[in-house]
Amino acid sequence: MTKIHIFDTTLRDGEQVPGCRLNKEQKLILATQLEKLGVDVIEAGFPVSSPGDFQSVRELGQKIKKSTVCGLSRAVKNDIKVAAEALEGCARPRIHTGIGTSENHIKYKFKSTEEQILERIKDAISYAKSFVEDVEFYAEDAGRTRNEFLARACQTAIDAGATVLNIPDTTGYCLPYEYGEKIAFLAANLKGLQNVIISTHCHNDLGLATANSIYGVINGARQIECTINGIGERAGNTSLEECVMTIKQHDELGFYTDINTPLLQETSNMVSREMGMIVQPNKAIVGSNAFAHSSGIHQDGVIKERSTYEIIDPAEVGVDKSSIVLTARSGRAALAFRLKEFGCEVTKLELDALYERFLQLADEKKEIREEELTFLSENKDSIYAEYSK
Ligand code: KIV
Ligand code: ZN
Repeated sequence: MTKIHIFDTTLRDGEQVPGCRLNKEQKLILATQLEKLGVDVIEAGFPVSSPGDFQSVRELGQKIKKSTVCGLSRAVKNDIKVAAEALEGCARPRIHTGIGTSENHIKYKFKSTEEQILERIKDAISYAKSFVEDVEFYAEDAGRTRNEFLARACQTAIDAGATVLNIPDTTGYCLPYEYGEKIAFLAANLKGLQNVIISTHCHNDLGLATANSIYGVINGARQIECTINGIGERAGNTSLEECVMTIKQHDELGFYTDINTPLLQETSNMVSREMGMIVQPNKAIVGSNAFAHSSGIHQDGVIKERSTYEIIDPAEVGVDKSSIVLTARSGRAALAFRLKEFGCEVTKLELDALYERFLQLADEKKEIREEELTFLSENKDSIYAEYSK
């Protein structure tokens, strides 16, 4: 089995969501949880962007001992110097530096040429190496960069000492096979990769971020950059929990991560709370409906044997149990199951009576909650008497 490193960027790329800015204390709380979760790298912030972010990276760098702590910078000397200062005293510091490599970025953002971009990569990586050993290069908009030029940019970074090559699909444009081919092209054509890790960094503009990251790994990437709950600019980043659980569920792929998966739900809740950003109910793995069953056919199956409609045991991701949600689409088996949970055992005939009453209530309400279940169980005898008349 091959280890896939998990690089969490909730506190940097994730925190770029409008209105979700975190203060230093919040970053420290979340970083401590991320370390407990077992992430290999925590991208703590962009130190040159504000004094607050500088201070967060600095304090986080002093506190976190097991995970690598990473600070972002552009391929600009002052950014790199400030990132290095923020990381002083850190047990495992990493500087993450880079520049746009697509024709679009070179022409419109930098008004530059490919040769000048290569020069800037060489200078930035060499400069970052003068501060720390672990330097990650990012080729912004690699998703739309021609593979030949991307390889030249990455080779320049390796030759200057980069330890990790980050291949961001910044605009979430790539198709999974295309992103996979990009990684495979780099893995096949770069020299000196023995001690260098290729990393995925996918955005979710087309809803393909997880699929692209997994294709990246299948094709040679050994690090995934991701965020809790998939938060991030626009449609977000690759979701950590989705990648980790995909790798875990598909052990035939031959990969593993060091993530302590029973902490996933708790971590998701913490990020949602600290950022004031709700998680969509149908979000894979951590959404409130991820282990909820509401249609009669599914409920009947899950009550008989959980695996009929669930591929993950909820306990594996820190969820107590699957839930049987009662709606007008639920059947007798689900009602009997929920009543039993309530301590109310019923005979077949009593169930018929309660079910009739249940359907009347369920047609009026979206969901039958504890209140209605209490009513049904407390009035079981009179409902049955009425039904039997
Ligand atoms: O999406 C991206 O290109 C990034 C880089 C700055 C790493 O977040
Ligand atoms: Zn990004």
